[in-house]
Amino acid sequence: MTTPPSIIAIDGPAASGKSTLGLSLAKALGYLFFDTGIMYRAITWLALRLDIDLNDEARVTVLAEQSQIDIAPASKADGRVNDILIAGWDVTWETRLPEVDANVSVVSAHRGVRAALSQQQRRIGQRGKVVMVGRDIGTVVLPEADLKIYLDASAEQRAKRRYDEIIARGGKADYAEILEKVIERDHIDSTRDVAPLKAATDAVVLDSDQLNADEVLAKVMTYCK
Ligand code: CDP
Repeated sequence: MTTPPSIIAIDGPAASGKSTLGLSLAKALGYLFFDTGIMYRAITWLALRLDIDLNDEARVTVLAEQSQIDIAPASKADGRVNDILIAGWDVTWETRLPEVDANVSVVSAHRGVRAALSQQQRRIGQRGKVVMVGRDIGTVVLPEADLKIYLDASAEQRAKRRYDEIIARGGKADYAEILEKVIERDHIDSTRDVAPLKAATDAVVLDSDQLNADEVLAKVMTYCK
């Protein structure tokens, strides 16, 4: 009998379904699910809250180095997967605010911020039995991952999923605006100097435009036997 891959990396652009896949895969295998985007979002929220200039790489880096980001079991049944705490604050929903969406790619492009956060991610990932989701997990954070998935989808399909998510939560959304923001964020993420978004050469590339969440999971499970 072969053993399932222990370290699984899932990368891909915004709203391609990485978190949905990561969560269901981790459940199916009994692994830890770790969404690294949350860390960049938490630092972005804190910097905005403290009125720090997001382009000031030195200050944002110090913030990333000194902030303790914790992920704990969900304390409320309000649709959250986990609690996200930064410096003791519950910022679970704050990390999903539109101003965080709009600014997170500026923060995550800073070399010092990436160094601080990817070091923590690597330490957790190396323990194994983990599904880690992000932009650079298979290429930079855990290049030794046993299975690497690069999950893609068209910008239109991804914007539609984000739109549906917001509406389902009872919020208001404008599809055209979401599409524009998704394209802009992808552009920043894939053209930055440090750890740009790209598929690792040994990644399995999946396009989820024609596949629903169950079909994506079923496909990935065939690599986990
Ligand atoms: O959920 P969504 O795909 O929209 O984004 P996310 O995974 O929460 O990531 C938010 C942002 O954090 C991304 O647009 C990247 O700028 C950054 N990020 C990154 O640079 N590296 C990672 N490993 C994870 C996220």
